[in-house]
Amino acid sequence: MRTIERVLSCVFALGVLVSLYLADNVSRAAEADIAVGEKIYRENCAACHGERGDGKGPEAGRLGNKPRDFTAGIYKFRSTPSGSLPLSEDILRTISKGVRGTSMLAQLHLSQEERSAVVQYLKTFSPRFKKQKPGPSISVPPKPREDKELVTQGESVYRDAGCASCHGSDGKGDGPSAEGLKDYWSFPIGPTDLTLKPFKSGPDPEDLYRTLSTGLDGTPMPSYADSLTPKERWSLVFYILSIATHERPRGMMGLVGEETQGMMIDMRAAMAGMMGGRGMMGKGGGMMDRDMKEMMKDMKGR
Ligand code: HEC
Ligand code: HEC
Repeated sequence: MRTIERVLSCVFALGVLVSLYLADNVSRAAEADIAVGEKIYRENCAACHGERGDGKGPEAGRLGNKPRDFTAGIYKFRSTPSGSLPLSEDILRTISKGVRGTSMLAQLHLSQEERSAVVQYLKTFSPRFKKQKPGPSISVPPKPREDKELVTQGESVYRDAGCASCHGSDGKGDGPSAEGLKDYWSFPIGPTDLTLKPFKSGPDPEDLYRTLSTGLDGTPMPSYADSLTPKERWSLVFYILSIATHERPRGMMGLVGEETQGMMIDMRAAMAGMMGGRGMMGKGGGMMDRDMKEMMKDMKGR
């Protein structure tokens, strides 16, 4: 072997070793993440989404908007094409922003790292994440300047693309096909009343653009990435914003719809977390039974 060949094969062997070492470390890091994620999930998510991620948590029965069953790996809120898995960032966005009007609140009591860890844990509920890769993100082109013409164009796209069949001719969610719709999990689902804010997809025009482009998988809401041009999709966004002139009624602390139930459930979970493993009375101890009884007596006395 010539010297140069020997050097090259050494470099190659070293490269293989380094990458093996890195891969091993990466998978060990991922395992650690998943263990952290599992703990966070049990404490913050299982009450609704169920210990097994099947959407059958003890609170699920009472909720009109059913908590997602993660086992099929079908996600509504994605940046990826219809039928594709979501990116980690997509799941992270939902956990960080919540789904407005539902009990799925922004989980901002969790740190960024904790939210990322729980994302990795969610993926373990569905074998799809082991077998497939998410498709490429659909890009959101820069928002054009809003003008009357664009809104008018949006109105005719709305009519021509058949949105009215579900969402109704004035967007109130009462189109001729609205009755009896079901989602993938066989729960009844109504087309959104587009005259009412806030939307599930998020507060920004870009969020609506994304939803029109990706569709909401698992629901009858289709993707229009192939059938409408980016300009047509933007015109629809502006048309929707022009008719979304009403706010949904706000309750306590400005909460909308089932967000109030969500807050009660989150608070109960936080209390349970404090009483159990997390240790209000020192390391690993949790609050003791006796203290608990004292506290209850104290509360009754007031
Ligand atoms: C109080 C009940 C409740 C709790 C607690 C809760 N969720 Fe949810 N979650 C929901 C509901 C309801 C939905 C469905 C919203 C919809 O699609 O209308 C949902 C949807 C989601 C979605 C959207 C999936 C998709 O289709 O794109 C993700 C991701 C999610 N939850 C993750 C979590 C994580 C992680 C936690 C804990 C940190 C958590 N949730 C805690 C009720 C809850
Ligand atoms: C086959 C029925 C159907 C058609 C056709 C349809 N949608 Fe939808 N759409 C739905 C349903 C059902 C939902 C509710 C999904 C949910 O709540 O999770 C929805 C949700 C949406 C949302 C998300 C609202 C939110 O809260 O984030 C927007 C925006 C929307 N549709 C706009 C449109 C537009 C614009 C068109 C036409 C280009 C259209 N839809 C066509 C059924 C339909």
